[in-house]
Amino acid sequence: MATPTVTHDFESLRFQPETGRVPKQRYLDGEFAKLENERLWRKVWQWACLDDDLPGAGSFYEHQVGDQSVLIIRGDDDVLRAFHNVCPHRGNRLRGGTGSVKDELACNYHRWTWDLEGKLVRVPDREGFPAFDDACFALRKVSVDIWNHFVFVNLDPEPEPLLDYLGPLTQKLAPYHWDLHTCTASVTLPMAANWKTMVDGFLDVYHLQGVHPQLLRYTDDETTTYEALGRHSAMYMPMGIPSPKAPNPTEQGVLNELAKPGSGIMGKMIRQSPHFQEVDGKPTLTPGFTVRDALVEGGRRTAEELARDYAGLTDEQLIDDHHYFFFPNTIMNVFAGHFIAARMRPDVADPERCFFDLFIFNWLTEEEEASKEKREHEFLEEGAKVGRVPDQDFTALPKVQLGLHSDGLENLFLATQGQEVRVSDFHVILDEYLYGDSQ
Ligand code: FES
Ligand SMILES: [Fe+2]
Repeated sequence: MATPTVTHDFESLRFQPETGRVPKQRYLDGEFAKLENERLWRKVWQWACLDDDLPGAGSFYEHQVGDQSVLIIRGDDDVLRAFHNVCPHRGNRLRGGTGSVKDELACNYHRWTWDLEGKLVRVPDREGFPAFDDACFALRKVSVDIWNHFVFVNLDPEPEPLLDYLGPLTQKLAPYHWDLHTCTASVTLPMAANWKTMVDGFLDVYHLQGVHPQLLRYTDDETTTYEALGRHSAMYMPMGIPSPKAPNPTEQGVLNELAKPGSGIMGKMIRQSPHFQEVDGKPTLTPGFTVRDALVEGGRRTAEELARDYAGLTDEQLIDDHHYFFFPNTIMNVFAGHFIAARMRPDVADPERCFFDLFIFNWLTEEEEASKEKREHEFLEEGAKVGRVPDQDFTALPKVQLGLHSDGLENLFLATQGQEVRVSDFHVILDEYLYGDSQ
């Protein structure tokens, strides 16, 4: 029987953790998206931008999520402030995108003007208005805070402190020294999928076998572990070990794969190990040394050469893929000296679309830092290619969104333990916000 495509019966849209059933309307229904706007996006700390997006006094950055727009501005005192991006006169949106103003912000409709702290400083032809208190027409503040280079905003008038919101993540990530990393590239792509379709698709390792089979040659999906970190979560994917599902799941198979030209960071690490050599063109390790031993050795040696402080990193943090989820919409795929942030923002015009932002961070050498070009954020067309692994996800996940329309499907079905546990936990936490289960 066909399921209705719109329902306002929110109770029927709860995730059912005891059965693993996820009502598909959560990904389709415009009323459910409004519920998220009201009860999720207005309550959480959202990562908005990076501090280098606001390079000097008067720089501004517009952050849009759901039906709300926030304007972040750097003041003359170097302090970042955030405001609702609306003119209190007749509602004009004050600024869009990024840019800078001098020492004042004027609305382009009737030129009411504020200083960079949001204080009203000028009202043209004021005599025609009934008497009013300027303080009532200050720009409305939004909470803003910075963690490492990440600028977060919160629309809740009385939010919990950002560090409390991030909870165990800050301690987990401290040994990586993200304060010393630089965002070297960033892009936004429109995506034909609900934002949660994309989040779900980035939380499990279960899809490697279907979507990224090439990764199984040196990533072990079956011994990947999962950790709930308050409302956030992590998974730790062992590298340098083949999945039992891979073709030729042997040490030599992994070594051949990692030693291939162009195999990225892992390839560089293994080649740094004194126990690695090519014998007659064949990648070889000193007998008794495993691929993981060589990766650790290569990683520590790289750190020494580049004078990077990896002392706080365990061997696993040094060589494995540690994958963090910052509830509700950011994935941090973390390696030593390098990480990738992926963020999904709902498209207010259509619950079946979202914006996918991708940011690449690297720990640069002093020379690299000195000679780097200013990062220009790129806005790409739908379907643009950004790299083999994300392109595989971007091809796969819009098909899931299309599949949700099928009359042959009423619910999604999740494993609530093991490989899909983070997806399941995500929906449980989301429902705590949406239904007030434990707020
Ligand atoms: S709407 Fe902004 S000055 Fe009138
Ligand atoms: Fe993926």
